[in-house]
Amino acid sequence: MNCYDFIIKTIQDAGELALMCSKEAFMVTAKNNDTRDIVTAVDIAVNDFLVDALKKEFPTYGIYSEEGSSETEAGEYMWAIDPIDGSSNFARHIPHFAICVGLLHKGVPVLGVVYNPVTRELFSFKKGEGAYLNGKRIEVSKITDLKDSSILLHAGRKPELWQWGGESYTKLLEHAKKTTNLGGSALDACFVAAGRVEANIYGRLSTMDIASAFGILYEAGGVAVGVDGKPATLSTEPKKIFMANNQKVANKLVGLLG
Ligand code: IPD
Ligand code: CA
Ligand code: CA
Repeated sequence: MNCYDFIIKTIQDAGELALMCSKEAFMVTAKNNDTRDIVTAVDIAVNDFLVDALKKEFPTYGIYSEEGSSETEAGEYMWAIDPIDGSSNFARHIPHFAICVGLLHKGVPVLGVVYNPVTRELFSFKKGEGAYLNGKRIEVSKITDLKDSSILLHAGRKPELWQWGGESYTKLLEHAKKTTNLGGSALDACFVAAGRVEANIYGRLSTMDIASAFGILYEAGGVAVGVDGKPATLSTEPKKIFMANNQKVANKLVGLLG
C-alpha cells in the first residue's frame, strides 16, 4: 500500500479507536499545571496506536508527535502527529476535533490527513496534486473583503494575550461579517481550505502539530502568515498565526490586528 492510502486507512482506524474510547469515562489531565491546556487518556491511546503503526510500516522515518514520548530523530522524512487536535472539545463531547497526520520531506509537508471521526469528514492533500474532502477536490473561497468574511478568532489562554484578544474581537465585530471560535485549529484550517470560512487567527499555535492541516490549506489555495505578514513556518514553539483564503485577506487582517 502506498504512503497516502496507508495513512488514510490508519487514521480511520485511529478514529474508530477514539470513538470507542469516548463511550467510556476517560481521564483528563492538565498539562504543566495549566487546567486550560488538557490532554486525555484517549489522546495518548490514539498517539500510541498511530506511532506503532507508522514505526512498523516506515521504520526509517522520524516521528514528531504533540504527545511526544515516542518522538524519534528527524530524518529526511518525518511524520508530524497531533493525535487529537481540539482536546478541549473532545473532552466535552463537542464534535469539532480531529486526528492529524502529515508527512514532511526535508521539513516540507508533502502529504497528510485531518480526520474528524464523528462527522467522518476526511480532509487530505498531496503536494502538487490538490486538497480533498472525502475524495472530492476542495478550494478556498474567492472573497477578498473583510466585510464579507467569516473569521474564526482563537485569542489564546495566556494572560499576555487577553488585551490583544479583546481588542481583536472588537475590531472583527466591526470589520468582518461573522466572528466566532470553534476550538480546533486543524479543522478550522480545513474549513478555510473548503471555502466554509475565510480566515482563522490564533494568538498561540504550534504549527508543527497540525502540519497536515497547513498542507491542506496551501493545496486548496490558502495562505498562512505570522504577525510580520511573512509566510508561517512549521514550529513546535507557539506563535501568533493568521490563516486566510488568500493573501489580500491575510494582509488586511495583519494590518488590522497584527
Ligand atoms: C489546541 C487547539 C486550539 C488552539 C490551541 C491548540 P490541542 O490544540 O488546536 O484550537 O487554539 O492553540 O493548542 O491542544 O487540542 O491539540
Ligand atoms: Ca493535541
Ligand atoms: Ca493541537
